[in-house]
Amino acid sequence: MSRIVVTGGLPLCGELNAPGAKNAALPILAACLLAHHPVRLLGCPKLTDVANMVELLRTLGCSVNWDGDVLNIDSRSAQCHEMPEHLSKALRSSIFLLGPMIGKFKRAVANFPGGCDIGVRPIDLHIAALNALGVSIEESHGSIICEGSNLKGAAIHLDYPSVGATENAIMAAVAAKGETTIQNAAREPEVVHLQEFLCKLGYTVNGAGSSTIYIKGGCTPKTAEHRIMADRIVAGTYLCAAAITAGDITMRGIVPEQLGSIVGKLKECGCEVITESELIRVKGPKRPRELKRVETMPYPGFPTDMQAQIFALCTIADGTSMIVENVFENRFRHASELARMGAESCINGRIAVIRGVKTLTGTRVDAKDLRGGAALVLAGLRAEGETEVCGAEHISRGYEAIETALSSLGAKIRREP
Ligand code: UD1
Repeated sequence: MSRIVVTGGLPLCGELNAPGAKNAALPILAACLLAHHPVRLLGCPKLTDVANMVELLRTLGCSVNWDGDVLNIDSRSAQCHEMPEHLSKALRSSIFLLGPMIGKFKRAVANFPGGCDIGVRPIDLHIAALNALGVSIEESHGSIICEGSNLKGAAIHLDYPSVGATENAIMAAVAAKGETTIQNAAREPEVVHLQEFLCKLGYTVNGAGSSTIYIKGGCTPKTAEHRIMADRIVAGTYLCAAAITAGDITMRGIVPEQLGSIVGKLKECGCEVITESELIRVKGPKRPRELKRVETMPYPGFPTDMQAQIFALCTIADGTSMIVENVFENRFRHASELARMGAESCINGRIAVIRGVKTLTGTRVDAKDLRGGAALVLAGLRAEGETEVCGAEHISRGYEAIETALSSLGAKIRREP
C-alpha cells in the first residue's frame, strides 16, 4: 500500500514525452507467444500490469528480460498451457493470453480475470469469438478450459465492439487454418497497433481501424522489433492537469488524432489547444466552463478511460456538467471521494450531473481504481491544502511514476509508503 500526497494550487507548466501505452503493450506481450523468433519490444512502460503479464509469460516458459525500457522475449521454449490462478486473477488482460495460447498449444487453461473493479466485465464475447473459431470451452469452478485442436477460420460478428474480444479473436485467428473476418470489431488505435505487430511477425491481418478485420491463417516467420505506441490516455490525463490547474502543458511523441475527442472537450471548457504533428499543447483557463454533455463510447468516441479525469475537471467548472458512462456500469466510484474534497455531484445509474464549485479542499481520499485514482490526483493539484490519495498502487497499474512526471511540471507531490 502506498499513497500520493499533493499540495494543490500551483499551475503546472512544461513538457512531457508520452510513455508507451499499457493497453497496447499488454496484448502485444500476449501476442509474443505466437512469435517464431525472439522479439524486441521498445518503449515498454514499467507498470504493475506489464510486470504481471511478464510474469505470466515466464510461467508459461518464455524467456523475458528487461534491458532499460526494452523487453526481449523469446517464446520458443514455452510449453505450459496453464495460467497460474493468482496471476490471471490479478490482471484482467490475462484473458488476452487465451487466443495466443490456443494458437500455440492448441489448448489453454485460465481463470476468470481480475483487474479494476469497474463493473461486471464479462468475457462472453471472447468466448463466443473463440467458439466460432472451433474452440471448445468448458467453464468449471472459476476455470476456463479451452481445447482448440480444430482451430479454423470463421466469420465472427461481435455483439459489441469489445477491444479485448477483438484482439483475442485476431490472435487466435492468425493461428487458425483458413480465413477469418471479424465484423463490428473495435476500432481503437491499440487494435491497429496489434495488427502492425502481428504483420511484423509474419502473419496476415488487415482492416484494423475499421469495423471489419480480415485475417488469413498461417505465418511466414520473421524476427520482429517493435516500438510500443504512445499512451493516449496518459497523455490525455496530463493535458487535463493543465486544464485543471490553469497551467500550460505540452505532450510530445503522440498522435494528436487519437486524442480528438479529448481535445474537443478541453476546448469546449475553455482551454487553448495547439496541435502539431506529434504534439499537443494545452493552456488551461482560470476556471473551466461546464461541459454540457460528455458521453463515453467506443473509439473514436470519448474514451471511458478518460471519464474520471474529465469528471475531476468538471468539479471546478463554472456551471453544471453532465457525463454519461456508456461503456462500464460501475465507473463513478471516484464521485464519492471527490465529494470529500467538496465536489458536488449526483449519480443516477450511468449518468452523473456535476455542479462545479469554486474550490476543492485537500483531504484524505481513496483511489478505488486506476483512472479514478488519477482523477483524485488531478483534483488534488487544484485543491486548497494537502490531498492524500491512498491506494496509489491502483494508479501504478497505468501511470509510471506519476509523481515524478507531475513534479517535473512544477507540482508539489510525493509518494509515501
Ligand atoms: C479495454 C482497455 C480498458 C478500456 C476498455 C474500453 C485494455 C488492456 N484495456 O478493456 O482500459 O477501459 O477497453 O475502452 O486494452 N464486454 C462484455 N463481454 C465481453 C467483453 C466485454 O460484455 O466478453 C463489455 C464490458 O463489460 C464493457 C464493454 O464490453 O461493458 C467494453 O469492454 P472491452 O472493450 O472489452 O474492454 P476491455 O478490452 O476489457
